[in-house]
Amino acid sequence: MSKIKIESGAYSLLNPGCVVLISAGDGGGEGVFAVTWNMPIRKDPAMVAIECGQNHYTYQFIRKTGEFGVNIPDAKMVNQVLGCGTVSGKTGVDKFERFGLTRQTAEKIKAPLLAQAFANLECRVTQVVDMGASALLLAQVVSAQVDDRHFVDGQLVFDNGLQLLHHLGGRRFCVSDRVLMGEMG
Ligand SMILES: Cc1cc2nc3c(=O)[nH]c(=O)nc-3n(C[C@H](O)[C@H](O)[C@H](O)COP(=O)(O)O)c2cc1C
Repeated sequence: MSKIKIESGAYSLLNPGCVVLISAGDGGGEGVFAVTWNMPIRKDPAMVAIECGQNHYTYQFIRKTGEFGVNIPDAKMVNQVLGCGTVSGKTGVDKFERFGLTRQTAEKIKAPLLAQAFANLECRVTQVVDMGASALLLAQVVSAQVDDRHFVDGQLVFDNGLQLLHHLGGRRFCVSDRVLMGEMG
């Protein structure tokens, strides 16, 4: 193996978690945007963290309600992810309409969820870390749902054609679609 030293872009080596669509709304307005920088931070009760630009149109709704939805798309939604991540609601565009996203009522939060996403997490913000241009939002998952074809006995399964979508940067994505079992030596 020959390794090259890199001066920038180290983050992109860790990037390939699932890209998600974050939705938020207060009953009056709503927004949705793409987030690559997200991660689980606790198992039970489940918690997640996302990085959110403080100038994002959608952030006002998260700030107001303290809530957001994490919508996990599969690879079929790649263009909707790119669209929601490159167009801002500040332009007056209704991204739900423009990108053909169907609203789904959440169980516990005001934010609309995305029906096309194969999984949806309803989250309440517990902590905000101000990072200047962006904020790190720590949140508790108060409700979660997933397509039962793709989640069996508490685990993701890929037998029914699930392809997870990962963001590599810019317009580049990759997919993961099978389980690899490690063996204990
Ligand atoms: C694939 C992709 C991933 C992105 N990941 C993030 C992210 O992790 N955090 C973030 O704040 N913005 C991220 N963005 C940028 C926002 O999604 C983008 O600025 C969006 O237009 C904001 O929408 P809004 O202003 O309507 O809320 C990403 C964009 C793309 C295309």
